[in-house]
Amino acid sequence: MIRRAFIDDLDDIVRIEKRSFVKPWSAESLEAEFNRPFSKIFLFTQEERGELYITSKTLAYIIVWLLCPEGEIVSLAVDPLYRGRGIASALLRRLLTLFPNVYWALEVDISNTAALRVYEKCSFKKRRKIKNYYGQGRDAFLMTI
Ligand SMILES: CC(C)(COP(=O)(O)OP(=O)(O)OC[C@H]1O[C@@H](n2cnc3c(N)ncnc32)[C@H](O)[C@@H]1OP(=O)(O)O)[C@@H](O)C(=O)NCCC(=O)NCCS
Repeated sequence: MIRRAFIDDLDDIVRIEKRSFVKPWSAESLEAEFNRPFSKIFLFTQEERGELYITSKTLAYIIVWLLCPEGEIVSLAVDPLYRGRGIASALLRRLLTLFPNVYWALEVDISNTAALRVYEKCSFKKRRKIKNYYGQGRDAFLMTI
């Protein structure tokens, strides 16, 4: 299921963030996103059926800034145990469907092959290279749709 995130989901987002990035955002920075009116967070969740209860596990999140008519993909991450199953692509495609009139942009590390593949699968195009965007020697592609 894909749904908007609520503040109760913060711990799950922090968990995925820590497992996904060398320099993860702090819990405080992620919490602050819930208070920014232009920031929206969506989750990919999966139902898990126990003997007594059905619980919901968060597998991925995407943070976007909507400054219409422009939008920025700020962060996207999938729990490492669930990668390679089309989850990031599904989340991104749903977002693009929800906001069809937005001009989306993002920056991605040129060596992040999996992320580049996801964005290209979802029709993003590389526009230019930004030198040292992630620090000395780590360039990014600006991609838009
Ligand atoms: C990037 C990321 C979000 C992708 O999530 P995902 O759910 O595994 O993505 P999908 O399964 O939808 O698609 C991944 C695609 O990349 C491909 N891929 C994965 N690793 C790859 C690699 N090392 N080299 C080439 N292709 C790769 C997969 O085969 C798949 O393409 P396909 O559908 O054509 O086979 C996930 O790897 C992640 O969370 N990474 C850490 C955080 C991050 O880098 N976020 C992006 C910031 S811009």
